[in-house]
Amino acid sequence: MSIAAELRAKLRIPVMAGPMFIASTADLVIAQCRAGIIGSMPALNPRTTADLDADITRIAASVGDAPYAINLVAHASNSRLGADLDVVLKHKVPIVVLALAANAGLVRQLQDNGSLVFQDVIKQRHAHKCAELGVDGIIAVGAGAGGHTGDLSPFALMAEIREWWEGLLILSGCIATGRAVQAAEVLGADLAYIGSPFLASTEANTQPGFRQMIVEGAAADIVTTNCFTGVDANFLRPSLIEHGLDPANLKRVKAGGINIDGGGDNAKAWKEIWSAGQGIGAVKRSEPAADYIDRLVEEYAAARAAVGSAH
Ligand SMILES: Cc1cc2nc3c(=O)[nH]c(=O)nc-3n(C[C@H](O)[C@H](O)[C@H](O)COP(=O)(O)O)c2cc1C
Repeated sequence: MSIAAELRAKLRIPVMAGPMFIASTADLVIAQCRAGIIGSMPALNPRTTADLDADITRIAASVGDAPYAINLVAHASNSRLGADLDVVLKHKVPIVVLALAANAGLVRQLQDNGSLVFQDVIKQRHAHKCAELGVDGIIAVGAGAGGHTGDLSPFALMAEIREWWEGLLILSGCIATGRAVQAAEVLGADLAYIGSPFLASTEANTQPGFRQMIVEGAAADIVTTNCFTGVDANFLRPSLIEHGLDPANLKRVKAGGINIDGGGDNAKAWKEIWSAGQGIGAVKRSEPAADYIDRLVEEYAAARAAVGSAH
């Protein structure tokens, strides 16, 4: 059986949650897995490596053989990488999502230990690099995604990658409804990757004001800028304004390298200046993740039935 078919057999709907810095908690991962999707969180969200160890222990004990994912930032600026990696290896985490500067040795080490390794990409060149690294799954991040975003239309990105990549392919960016999950499949994705809608989940570590912006906001409220990290990311316009920034005049940082740990405005980004993707127009309420996923499942079934009856 292919990896895609094996994973799909364990899910209620072909959806994986995107890990979100600060926002994804162990409780959110557990709720996502129990509701029938792949739950995920960044390794850096628990305050320390010991906390990460405790969180993964709790997740593993709560979700049985449901697949969950931990996101590791494989970048020199991540001082916890070595210690966090040891924890991930110890628990044989089912899926590891690597971000930034992964190398073939790390991919191999994780796979030999029993993990599937996924990596996200925003362009064709990165997808080829991932294939060379030997990853099990490629996450194609299209325009409008929450967090660090791509700038290509998902139609173009998926078509170009699917031309040569037969492995597991996941589409990320603005997917928020069951209909959009089906659309991702139609474009050639095995799984849809959903981030921003879970910012409104009651299990997420998001402040009330952040949740409110997600519930009230829409695509027009999202601003793309590289001014915080040197790499394009999407932020909520009202949050930029609240911090005295003019969304129309954000300084464009010269390309060349990502700065994750920097200070100043960069430190405020994510924690105080809130990120989200263009798909938030579909998010109408803050609710437990399971309620949102139940609705996704219903919408997905309705969308499939509608397409079936149109033929
Ligand atoms: C607030 C926020 C924080 C994020 N942090 C991370 C992260 O730490 N690691 C990562 O791989 N992706 C991160 N992402 C990206 C998500 O995993 C996912 O790719 C994205 O949210 C999908 O697009 P959507 O938000 O339009 O659904 C983040 C996204 C958001 C909105």
